[in-house]
Amino acid sequence: MELRKGSWKIAILVCALVIYLWMLFVDHSHVLTDISQKITLQKTRVPSRSVLYQSSDRSRIEDMPPDGRTDSKKSQSLLPRNVSGTLEGGISEYQTLKQQGLLPSRQLPTALIIGVKKGGTRALLEFLRLHPAIRAAGSEVHFFDHHYVKGFRWYRRRMPPTLIGQITMEKTPSYFVTSEVPKRVKHMNPGMKLIVVVRDPVTRAISDYTQVKSKRRKMPRFEDLAFLNGSKIVDTSWMPLKIGVYVRHLERWLQYFPLSQFLFVSGERLIADPVTEVTRVQDFLGLKRVICEKHFYFNATKGFPCLLKSEDRATPHCLGKNKGRSHPYIDPMAVQRLRDFYRPFNQRFYQLAGMDFGWY
Ligand code: A3P
Repeated sequence: MELRKGSWKIAILVCALVIYLWMLFVDHSHVLTDISQKITLQKTRVPSRSVLYQSSDRSRIEDMPPDGRTDSKKSQSLLPRNVSGTLEGGISEYQTLKQQGLLPSRQLPTALIIGVKKGGTRALLEFLRLHPAIRAAGSEVHFFDHHYVKGFRWYRRRMPPTLIGQITMEKTPSYFVTSEVPKRVKHMNPGMKLIVVVRDPVTRAISDYTQVKSKRRKMPRFEDLAFLNGSKIVDTSWMPLKIGVYVRHLERWLQYFPLSQFLFVSGERLIADPVTEVTRVQDFLGLKRVICEKHFYFNATKGFPCLLKSEDRATPHCLGKNKGRSHPYIDPMAVQRLRDFYRPFNQRFYQLAGMDFGWY
């Protein structure tokens, strides 16, 4: 009996020692992985459609790569497969929703605001973003002029995610005046819709000059830059003036795209009557007229139409300080000389565009 009691104690001690050694030396990472897989599966379950619009879900989806391939590969290495070969949990559900267009994914743009610099391009884009069917890149992408070598994948990654039926847009005003751009745009999408905001070329040049002057401490007078060596001859090689010869740029674009794919927006009317101009753009893009009077108010201090609320802000606000700046005094004689210079170009532009913008 005494001996039996002793051997029981030894057996219990040996068992405890074996369990202790197992805990100490055996790799338990697979057990932990199993637990983490279960947690991951629950997290990756696709939220219902109504939840997709909540900001936390949107930013999670925005982090995904455009085609979603890399992410699903990552998930595959973690997730076990069931008999039919589909991934258990939310991934197959995710793919189905994606195929049905019920999940946002990044797309290349189908409409571009191609110009012109200082025409009112930012105002137009901010107004258009009020439309639920328009999603636009926030900053200027400069793909077709500066980053073309980076390829379409790079370009698409710069676009916001969209659902089926939503239009992807971006605005880069230098596209209108850069000679290689029309060919490149056509190569990507021959059906691209092209929007050009135009403004009186003389005011536009002064606005352009004002912007450059605001960034430099010493800047020659506008009049000294606009005319060759103090003469009356217009320096057409000076970029702020070159941009304003709209007909030349349009002629180049028309070698690649028919006129029907262009919409010309009046920069002046965009300030005086934004709803009329934005309505024209909504019609051109084939969208329901959603943006209307109720979205705008006129800010007398700023002297411009502003928004009551927007995609980013729920309170009334105007565009930034660098939009709608006061211009320096320019000699009226110089202004008149420039008006005379632009007149024939403007007339040809009206004929080509099929629209009179009233700059005299
Ligand atoms: P100024 O600052 O010279 O007045 P862009 O966005 O293409 O650079 O154009 C800037 C111009 O947009 C401004 O030039 C301004 O005249 C014009 N603009 C049009 N609508 C505007 C708005 N609602 N608020 C501010 N600026 C507006």
